Amino acid sequence: MTKNLVIAICAAAALVVGCGDASSSGYLTGEREPGEPGGTTPTKSPTTSTPTNPNEAPPPGSVPPTGPGSSGSKARAYFISDVFPSISPACGSCHVSGAAGAPKFMSADASNTYQLLDQRAMITAQSSFITHKHTGAGTEPTPAQVTLLQKWIGMETQERVGQKAPEDILAKLAGCIQPADWKQAESAMRALRTTARNGENPNTCSGCANESCVSCHRDGGYGMVVGLQGDQTTDLVKQRPFINRFIGLNGTDVVPSNAVKAKADATQTGVAYSHPRYALTPQAEQAITTFVTSVVNQYKAGTCK
Ligand code: HEC
Ligand code: HEC
Repeated sequence: MTKNLVIAICAAAALVVGCGDASSSGYLTGEREPGEPGGTTPTKSPTTSTPTNPNEAPPPGSVPPTGPGSSGSKARAYFISDVFPSISPACGSCHVSGAAGAPKFMSADASNTYQLLDQRAMITAQSSFITHKHTGAGTEPTPAQVTLLQKWIGMETQERVGQKAPEDILAKLAGCIQPADWKQAESAMRALRTTARNGENPNTCSGCANESCVSCHRDGGYGMVVGLQGDQTTDLVKQRPFINRFIGLNGTDVVPSNAVKAKADATQTGVAYSHPRYALTPQAEQAITTFVTSVVNQYKAGTCK
């Protein structure tokens, strides 16, 4: 109860430092800033955003030494010099901290942002970063930003063609997905249930309380798939955007995208009646990791069918 209120106030004030921490009851007044007398003492001031900010998603490993995504890449250099300064204020306001329940796939740091976008397979032709239409809070890129983004993605596409991890790598991973591995992960996600937030009426909301992911995502509706037993969802998870929820890139490396966990985290700070709130159980987290690790290992070993 107390925790729900903390989360609601944190979301409303877009204050993320200290949110989710049950000890941060100083926020209950809604007036105190973190670090002010009487409040809890956060390790960092909310005004200083650094790449090591604990509220940001960590990048997936180190910058690749050569090839796409490396510090020698012209496309990456263009992202850092021209694209990032333009999109950082517009999109980072939500996608760095998770404000408004946004999934965290950006950083205050340009290089980390590049890796986080790659991790969600957004550095690809037809990037969802350009085409995504928000269902609630959020803004789409302006025409000028779209031009910048398209120029950058064009450079990336050229650099990535013929590489170990070309821009359409996700299409090639289909053969690495074993039905049994996926079914285990799906089964663990099927056991998850949503939990109503403070301010949500569990009797009248759609899916906000004790609902299974299946009720909305059974056939791949809304860009995510958690269905019933059967082959159909194994075919779906081999395709975008479903595969992106599990696997992405770090230059030429195939890495876990952690998107289902990121969505769970985002729902903790989402406003009432945005995406239903849920948490990953250790079982679900483990089953997803097992599934993703199996795909990545088969890809690396060259044993995909
Ligand atoms: C006011 C907060 C806010 C701002 C500003 C914002 N977003 Fe979002 N974004 C969200 C939320 C919340 C979601 C999840 C719900 C949805 O898709 O509408 C989201 C989802 C997305 C997704 C989908 C992620 C996925 O994996 O499916 C993309 C892509 C995206 N935003 C891109 C952008 C871009 C590009 C900008 C800047 C031009 C931007 N957003 C600005 C809040 C925001
Ligand atoms: C009441 C319907 C509903 C339920 C129940 C539901 N979702 Fe969703 N989900 C949506 C909608 C609508 C979207 C697209 C808009 C958005 O991203 O918020 C979505 C998008 C997603 C995404 C992709 C977007 C991103 O930001 O990465 C993931 C992952 C996801 N849901 C996971 C889950 C899981 C796991 C469960 C079960 C615990 C669940 N959802 C339950 C409606 C639902």
